[in-house]
Amino acid sequence: MKKNVPLDVSYRLINHGPVVLVSTLYRGRPNVCAAAWVTPVDLNLVLVVISRENYTARCIQSTGEFVINVPNHTLRQKVVACGSVSGERVDKFARFGLTPEKARKVGAPLIRECIGHLECKVIKGEERLSRKYDIFLARVVAASAERGLFSTHWLPRMPAARTLHHLGGKRFALLSGKVVG
Ligand SMILES: Cc1cc2nc3c(=O)[nH]c(=O)nc-3n(C[C@H](O)[C@H](O)[C@H](O)COP(=O)(O)O)c2cc1C
Repeated sequence: MKKNVPLDVSYRLINHGPVVLVSTLYRGRPNVCAAAWVTPVDLNLVLVVISRENYTARCIQSTGEFVINVPNHTLRQKVVACGSVSGERVDKFARFGLTPEKARKVGAPLIRECIGHLECKVIKGEERLSRKYDIFLARVVAASAERGLFSTHWLPRMPAARTLHHLGGKRFALLSGKVVG
């Protein structure tokens, strides 16, 4: 069961640098791609780098919206799969067994199997960033996370809160262990 996360702590869903699944909706078709180059740049501003070679970049350019979904370690193979095939002609939700779910504030879908979600709208007037550097700067307009795995931060002692951290290629480190401080 998911709960809404207040916007002023929503950056904590990705503060620790997990690999994410970026979902979009373009011309009525949902799509998803893996992304490691994603970071908060303010309490409710995020930056994602999506290569212009990827169909996802075109979807975001056209709609100005996307969702950052946080997968846990059980989705590793699906993350690699979503990062290895283009969604231009393939329905990756159907092919890789992911479930699109209605978001609160954007047209792009949430991915039900993920443990956290940031609904994002691209900041108007900053399109030069994507044209020049493949960067999308976006405002988080809604956030949610799996109840019991996120309080005011992730609870990585819970096995289901263990996120994936991209080491390169098909290798990942897992968030695990206790929180100190
Ligand atoms: C673990 C992982 C991380 C990735 N990170 C990024 C990223 O940060 N930015 C990017 O443009 N592509 C990244 N990719 C590659 C895209 O996910 C991949 O090119 C994908 O097929 C694009 O799908 P699309 O054409 O449906 O958008 C990553 C792939 C993997 C497996």
